[in-house]
Amino acid sequence: MNIKSKFGYLCCASLLTTSLWAQDVLISTRNTSLLLDAPVGGEVRFIYYGDKLSTSDAATLLETEQKTFSAYPVYGLNCPSESALSVTHGDGNMTLQLEVIKVDTRKEQTADITTIRLKDKVYPFYMNLCYRTYPDADIIETWTEITHEEKKAITLNRFASAYLPIRKGDVWVSHLYGSWANEAQLAQEPLRPGIKMIKNKDGIRNSHTAHAEVMISLDGKPKENTGSVIGAALCYSGNYKLFFDTDDSDYHHFFAGINEENSAYTLKAKESFRTPELALTYSKDGLSGSSRNFHAWARKHKIANGATARKILLNSWEGVYFDINQEGMDQMMSDIQSMGGELFVMDDGWFGDKYPRNKDNSSLGDWMVDARKLPRGIEGLIADANKHGIKFGIWIEPEMANTTSELYEKHPEWVLKAPNREIVLGRGGTQVVLDLSNPEVQDFIFGIVDNLMTTYPEIDYIKWDANMSILNHGSQYLPSDQQSHMYIEYHGGFKKVCERIRAKYPDLTLQACASGGGRANYGVMPYFDEFWVSDNTDALQRIYMQWGTSYFFPAIAMASHISAAPNHQTFRVIPLKYRIDVAMSGRLGMEIQPKNMTEEEKTLCRKAIADYKTIRPVVQFGDIYRLVSPYDRLGVASLMYTSPEKDKAVFYWWKTEHFVNQHLPRVKMNGLSPDKKYRVCELNRIDNEPLAFEGKAFTGEYLMANGLEIPYNHIVDYHKQNDYSSRVLYLEEVK
Ligand code: DGJ
Repeated sequence: MNIKSKFGYLCCASLLTTSLWAQDVLISTRNTSLLLDAPVGGEVRFIYYGDKLSTSDAATLLETEQKTFSAYPVYGLNCPSESALSVTHGDGNMTLQLEVIKVDTRKEQTADITTIRLKDKVYPFYMNLCYRTYPDADIIETWTEITHEEKKAITLNRFASAYLPIRKGDVWVSHLYGSWANEAQLAQEPLRPGIKMIKNKDGIRNSHTAHAEVMISLDGKPKENTGSVIGAALCYSGNYKLFFDTDDSDYHHFFAGINEENSAYTLKAKESFRTPELALTYSKDGLSGSSRNFHAWARKHKIANGATARKILLNSWEGVYFDINQEGMDQMMSDIQSMGGELFVMDDGWFGDKYPRNKDNSSLGDWMVDARKLPRGIEGLIADANKHGIKFGIWIEPEMANTTSELYEKHPEWVLKAPNREIVLGRGGTQVVLDLSNPEVQDFIFGIVDNLMTTYPEIDYIKWDANMSILNHGSQYLPSDQQSHMYIEYHGGFKKVCERIRAKYPDLTLQACASGGGRANYGVMPYFDEFWVSDNTDALQRIYMQWGTSYFFPAIAMASHISAAPNHQTFRVIPLKYRIDVAMSGRLGMEIQPKNMTEEEKTLCRKAIADYKTIRPVVQFGDIYRLVSPYDRLGVASLMYTSPEKDKAVFYWWKTEHFVNQHLPRVKMNGLSPDKKYRVCELNRIDNEPLAFEGKAFTGEYLMANGLEIPYNHIVDYHKQNDYSSRVLYLEEVK
């Protein structure tokens, strides 16, 4: 629909037509709008982003708003401000001046794309500013496409995906930081004068130390269920830079894109460069509202198989580490099947011929089964899985090699290495990264998955690991004048491999793992079904990590496993009940040697797995409402998921500290229908007596206004008492 305004036309992205004249571009989703001014022959200007605009308000805004800021500032004229794009033309000129040529729209399968086509006033330099919207998601994806017809190659010095001005006020940013085994820690801070930057330079694992996503609370300290929040997620697997420049204007200036450091990109005439999408959302319902927007978009459009329920699995890593053998795998399969599990995944240690993989210092690249450990081969493992009636999955780390490997002996030229320098080695003192800019390497990596899947089509799941940073700046494939393309071409090659795998094996479940949570990003998620949140499986620390992760990623993608006590990373002894209650808030799995569990423990797990099957649709496809943050240090953390129809909900309550006579807040629920009545049933009960409200029904209105009084401790026999307490409540509508 084009609505004539005083100045031009409003394009509602859901119903678009093309106008050849001056355009005022209104891009709307169900509940949000972005308004730009894009007059032909003029600059494209930002007017508004936020709650959905009526067409009349949009028209009035076009007349009254100041249009102070470019929608995508470029460098060269008016230099003092930060810019999104800076180039050096073939003749050395470092300026850009882009004007609108036209605005058009087209339909993709499930989305609409609005393209604002821009050209430099003098040079044959072209840039498209693109916006994608979906009819069923409150997300606007934006990116740029750059090309030129200049005589000489140009250099892209800075090339952000997007820019957004944010009106000053009491604006706070929430973002994730961390490190190995402590990923996705939540930081919340007000934006202050100067630059607030969030960046990654790892080369491979871009979500260990920081995340490429932010929430921006526009009206004061971030709140979970109230307040206006803009969410932004860069959909990129490599190095990134997100920053806020708080200058002397009335605005904070937000930029997001590939980290251009050491990555200047030369573009020849007619070549094109596409920046990764920045996904933007807006919600009036606080941080949780923005999370729900990201989650719904992710499940529908941005994670592989987002509409398919995930299986409950046992992964072998913490159970046996590298000690893989046929009998051991069979025993683990038998045990997980007996507890109701649906899938067994054999982790690291199964491969290597000349160099057996007994620890982390050899064999990556030699993806042949170690017949000494597995004389019946993968066929034997699949036969065992079939015997137990479960599915089989396998671990690989395909982007890597060890210098102690047959692959490296054959192809030393396939690894990233700086010319004239000794190679810097990673994990195990021998690990190296394959050069994914090289098409032969891309074929090899695709072939690892393809060989496994053509030889053993029954493989149901692949855990794709990546345990090293890029430690050597040097591609042995790229020419010397393109060495600065290395990071970008690595991720371009990685994407191509992923696309080939997905085209051929759409139903295969793929887990993105990178030393734990190093690959939780929307660059990889279109190809992966889920990610491993962290190598730290300690339930208490997981509450904090999963809380942060849930800001941007849905539970269906968050692999969350019940592991042993004492925990292998923190050595904390946490009772099984609590470990289960935490793992059940994500994609439930186990990471334990079941033969070391008691019968009583197995029975508790069996019951939990059965119950998880009941609540799985609510957890994996429901809407999240975070209620009490562990980061607020109130002694308790709590969240819930509700079904889209609001007829079912699952409420989680985990005590995070334990003191005698402490006082915890009573937690109000959220996301229920006020008019519906819900029967409450506790899952994973260990108490001798049911809770007072077990089986009782309450209105949604009451539960959201008051919550339920949850006992602080479990009433169990004296010898079973401990300092942990948690509850999972299942709420079902009473008709
Ligand atoms: C790191 C992963 O995060 C672990 O889960 C495990 O797969 C190991 N690698 C295996 O080497």
